[in-house]
Amino acid sequence: MKAKDVIIILDCGSQYTQLIARRIRELRVYSEILPWDASVEEIRSKSPKGIVISGSSRNVPLSEAPTVSSEILEIGIPILGICYGMQLLCHILGGKIAKTGSAEYRRIQVEIEDENAKLFKGLPKRFCAWMSRGYSVAQLPPNVRSLAKSEDGSIAAMATLDDRIWGLQFHPEVAHTEHGLEILRNFLFDICSCEPSWNLEDWVEEKIKEVAQIVGNDKVICALSGGVDSTVAAVLTRKAIGDKLHCVFVDNGLLRLNEAENVLSVYRQKLNLDVRYVDASNEFLQALKGITDPEEKRKAVGKTFIDVFEREAEKVGDAKWLLQGTLYPDVIESGQESRGASIIKTHHNVGGLPEEMKLQLLEPLKDLFKDEVRAIGAILGIPHSILRRHPFPGPGLSVRCLGEVTPEKLELLRQADAIFMDELDSSGFYDKVWQAFCVLLPVRSVGVIEDERTYGYTIALRAVESSDGMTADWVYLSRELLDKIAHRICNEVTDISRVVLDVTSKPPATIEWE
Ligand code: XMP
Repeated sequence: MKAKDVIIILDCGSQYTQLIARRIRELRVYSEILPWDASVEEIRSKSPKGIVISGSSRNVPLSEAPTVSSEILEIGIPILGICYGMQLLCHILGGKIAKTGSAEYRRIQVEIEDENAKLFKGLPKRFCAWMSRGYSVAQLPPNVRSLAKSEDGSIAAMATLDDRIWGLQFHPEVAHTEHGLEILRNFLFDICSCEPSWNLEDWVEEKIKEVAQIVGNDKVICALSGGVDSTVAAVLTRKAIGDKLHCVFVDNGLLRLNEAENVLSVYRQKLNLDVRYVDASNEFLQALKGITDPEEKRKAVGKTFIDVFEREAEKVGDAKWLLQGTLYPDVIESGQESRGASIIKTHHNVGGLPEEMKLQLLEPLKDLFKDEVRAIGAILGIPHSILRRHPFPGPGLSVRCLGEVTPEKLELLRQADAIFMDELDSSGFYDKVWQAFCVLLPVRSVGVIEDERTYGYTIALRAVESSDGMTADWVYLSRELLDKIAHRICNEVTDISRVVLDVTSKPPATIEWE
């Protein structure tokens, strides 16, 4: 294979580091993430065409926070510092940083001052960007110019006079920043002179080799869930190691209506995967009994899940690995990857693993985002019916059944959710949204059906648009459609007397309610 252009991303602990890598992949350039304290020798050994220094979740003075070696400036290749990365460059080059505002992220107007700046080629003079203003540049270093200002007058972008070192106070990688991808494109192609030659087929080929090498002659047990992620992980791993892969489908009793039957038939008939069905629903429901706290629920499900898998692994014989379809947003939201990233919630497939767990985790998709996984699934020949499925969390309906999870409440939720999905599918909305589902709220209210007073639970409808699950906007479903869904749910599901619509985006809310 022809040598690829490489961009090194130095990770200072931002929750957006993988998003930078993903955008670079989208622009068909290979990138590798190294920790902020990677040595210059290591960076040089990769022969990169450029370096990106990420943001950081730490809102602390520079002396106590991650710093990169100033020797990287001597490599002579272009460098782009993003947010904290820009402040670090400012500091290293002899400028000053000051605390200027709250560290919370928000959309802000940016105005370009230097219209000839290569980084901003093709951009309008003003655009909206996503940025945190905890610290910003108070005094530019010598031989560095300001390229743009933010609406509060602070420096939004800077560059050295020789156009080699660049800094952005805002995040070009997040979807909320207008023209962010164009800025990164300008950096890669106009500033670093990269060729757009890398693609996901290369990724698949390399990953298959890597998995085969890591696993060797060991046996792998796979936690198939019916979702896109575990299915793609399994098909990829099967290609790497053949029948050393043993798939198990655990029915945790937290699945949607007819889900187990439907999924198993696709696996067995369309994908030709050998899957063992394990009905552990009673065990899960037992573990959830009496628990109302969301984190406790996740931990209970996670622990039961691992127990069941360890048992199944014993049946397989000497399995060494547990394959999981963990994606990057799951990793980062569990605070696992970046040093200093805070835990948002424990995702069951990464959090709550017992330390003495006998199986090692194999997570071939853990650097990827959902849409990349779908694209890889298509490359691997997985049917569209599986690839189009909305994300479904590992802890299943337990995170959508608020308060204590009981079989009765789960049944109501299943029925309501099936109606919502049916209507979304027939109206064509299912494929237009990132994710949609019902949440059962433990709130009863009065209703009236056929002159009878009812006192039933509440269903919240959640439908969001997103490109990666990290941020999301609620979707405006038509009034007619909402009306039909609400009518059907109240009329067809006994014990539901009210349907409400969730109009919160992420942030400030998360997608799941928990
Ligand atoms: P939140 O609710 O954190 O969700 O905004 C972001 C995306 O992740 C999905 N999600 C999970 N996926 N295991 C998973 O595999 C989990 O524990 C989990 N929790 C949330 C969620 O459905 C959304 O798409």
